[in-house]
Amino acid sequence: MEYEPAENRYAGKMQYNYCGNSGLLLPRISLGLWHNFGDVDDFGVATDMIKYAFDNGITHFDLANNYGPAPGSAETNFGKILKNDFQSYRDEMIISSKAGHEMWPGPYGDGSSRKNIMASINQSLRRTGLDYFDIFYSHRYDGVTPVEETVQALIDIVKQGKALYVGLSKYPLEQQRIVYEELQDSGVPCIISQYRYSMFDRSIEQGNLALAAEYGSGFIAFSPLAQGLLTNQYLRGIPENSRAAKSTGFLKVDQVTEERIAIARQLNEIAARRGQTLAEMALAWVLKDARITSVIVGASSVKQLGDNIKAIDNLLFSETELSEIKSLISSI
Ligand SMILES: NC(=O)c1ccc[n+]([C@@H]2O[C@H](COP(=O)([O-])OP(=O)(O)OC[C@H]3O[C@@H](n4cnc5c(N)ncnc54)[C@H](OP(=O)(O)O)[C@@H]3O)[C@@H](O)[C@H]2O)c1
Repeated sequence: MEYEPAENRYAGKMQYNYCGNSGLLLPRISLGLWHNFGDVDDFGVATDMIKYAFDNGITHFDLANNYGPAPGSAETNFGKILKNDFQSYRDEMIISSKAGHEMWPGPYGDGSSRKNIMASINQSLRRTGLDYFDIFYSHRYDGVTPVEETVQALIDIVKQGKALYVGLSKYPLEQQRIVYEELQDSGVPCIISQYRYSMFDRSIEQGNLALAAEYGSGFIAFSPLAQGLLTNQYLRGIPENSRAAKSTGFLKVDQVTEERIAIARQLNEIAARRGQTLAEMALAWVLKDARITSVIVGASSVKQLGDNIKAIDNLLFSETELSEIKSLISSI
């Protein structure tokens, strides 16, 4: 049966924030396709999650060339979902992709050279069947390519109509500033910066977040649930089918430490007092900072996604809650 999105998809609880100084509105909750959309995953569940997201006001879907496994298959599968069910809704969607991590063999399939970025966006457009990406990112600073070379490739991508906006991901402070400066001067500003941020990883508080704000870049947090550690998943061991249990998952068993789980259990008690699940509170904690445009969540079921969207119901924290949380997470 043909998919018809919920008529009230924008009348629900989803909130939208301007992405930095740009005119682009992003939903506070975005959906990432790093895990659970590859060829090893259930295409039916993947399709249901995209439909559920869209029905609930999630307009932003985050991809990268190498998401899978196999690398590239998340883009291919998302392309199939778009073709089957979303052809009439492209203008209601923000679709992002990235280049910069290892993707194909040989010297040009990795890194942030102009060669890699230009070839990669063409491949990503073919896999997804899209005419253009809304946002295209340099996925990382590769430590060698001059930032100016990568920046020029991003500018040209916009000029060629292959992306509407550009962003950076995980750049160290020094290179992050150069990207902002160079892009600003070119008239193609860096509208978004994507970094890991959660109660378990607050390194961006050391400067990346403030620098993005200084240059008017929006900021989107990835792995806000610490890949599931900040949910009820691991409170009683490692469940079958969880990311840590799967050989294809990026969360390794040795990252599910006793110390982290003990803290997660105590955070879970604070969440319960707030009438939230731990996942909801973990997302609310990231979103409480006005400089955070959106969080990119991952999910392996519609149920998880539903829970994550509920975070928006309560983004406010009392001073007592904040200091309790701070003292729990300060040792991590
Ligand atoms: N720029 C970059 O370098 C970069 C790097 C990493 C990620 N990202 C982006 O960020 C996105 C999100 O990253 P992530 O998947 O690590 O995010 P995450 O939201 O921290 O973790 C998602 C995982 O947490 C579990 N989960 C989610 N909601 C839950 C809930 N309500 N209750 C219980 N468990 C729940 C699920 O694990 P199970 O699968 O075990 O059920 C899910 O797969 C990626 O898809 C990608 O788009 C970007």
